[in-house]
Amino acid sequence: MSIQPLRVGVIGAGTVGREVVRAFLERSPRLMPSDGAPLVLTAVAEKFTERAIANGIPEALLTDAPAHLVASTDVDVIVETMGGAEPAHTLVAAALQHGKSVVTANKHIVAHYGPELERLAREAGVPFRFEAAVGGGIPLLGPIAQDLAANRIARVRGIVNGTTNYMLTAMTREGRDYAEVLAEAQAKGYAEADPTADVEGLDALNKLVILARLAFGAWIDPAAVSNRPGTTTGAPGLPGITGVTAEDVAALAAEGRVLRLIATTRLAEDGAIEASVVPTAVPAESPFGRCDGVLNRVEVDGLPVGRVAFEGPGAGGPAAAAAVLSDLVSIARGLGSTWAGSPAAAERSAIEVRPVAGECVAAPSGACYPVGD
Ligand code: HSE
Repeated sequence: MSIQPLRVGVIGAGTVGREVVRAFLERSPRLMPSDGAPLVLTAVAEKFTERAIANGIPEALLTDAPAHLVASTDVDVIVETMGGAEPAHTLVAAALQHGKSVVTANKHIVAHYGPELERLAREAGVPFRFEAAVGGGIPLLGPIAQDLAANRIARVRGIVNGTTNYMLTAMTREGRDYAEVLAEAQAKGYAEADPTADVEGLDALNKLVILARLAFGAWIDPAAVSNRPGTTTGAPGLPGITGVTAEDVAALAAEGRVLRLIATTRLAEDGAIEASVVPTAVPAESPFGRCDGVLNRVEVDGLPVGRVAFEGPGAGGPAAAAAVLSDLVSIARGLGSTWAGSPAAAERSAIEVRPVAGECVAAPSGACYPVGD
């Protein structure tokens, strides 16, 4: 008896979506797992249809009506790669309510609407997967939720934004200008449509919320996560890497340190969750200091395992598409949601969130950057 194919509809054929579609058009055998259903692409919803056709997507697959796709009885799985808050959130919620499995690369909607989307997926009994939302192509969320499930996780920290890591690396190594390296990161397809989310640390903050959900079983409020370094006056610094100057970079380099935008979340003894996303001064010759360019690196400290580290390409269409496609294969193989067997998340309102405390080093701009190892 042959297994019924799983019919896939993709919403958004931009940087990530078009790479997902390309894998289907190339008829990758990896989309036909030997122990699951074959995956077939049935439709692609894209606002800019002409651009999609120019990118090689057959006109016959295209629609400009994503709301129809999420309600269509001809689609079993929705892939959301349009990004942004709305209409992505409404479309994903509707897809789950229609009983469709969903794969998304959208860290904003997972971080901000995680409690609602998790509830809808659990109520409908359908998988909701979002591996591509954190760490680009690095298999990270699955290993935390599944392979490390028997551990008590105490801390997760990492470089989770490729754009800012690319910028900080170029500013440090080549002494280049902030605006110039940001434009380069955008041209390479690393940055968000509005790169403010990257440089202000909001993208990394969304990813930290998702990591905390899998590590600690609770959706924390993104608004409660600190994204500003301290300053020598005691006032909050500028968000993310926006206050980092060439003078700061040079002064730290003279001490053998480099800046990395590090997202950290820790489970405190009183049950609170500490969470911060701040430029952090780490030794140049350390695993984070050596993590260059668009690479991401995440370290998970747990008991009894100790420290486990993940490193790889953290942004860009091909990397994120690889994670989306792997999620599709997992669904075809009958695996569940990204949170695997973990119980429903704790109520967001029940969790106290506070910044991660620690010593800092003063820099010429007046910022006081936390010291990392
Ligand atoms: N803008 C994001 C980054 C894309 O630079 O990491 C991948 O999530």
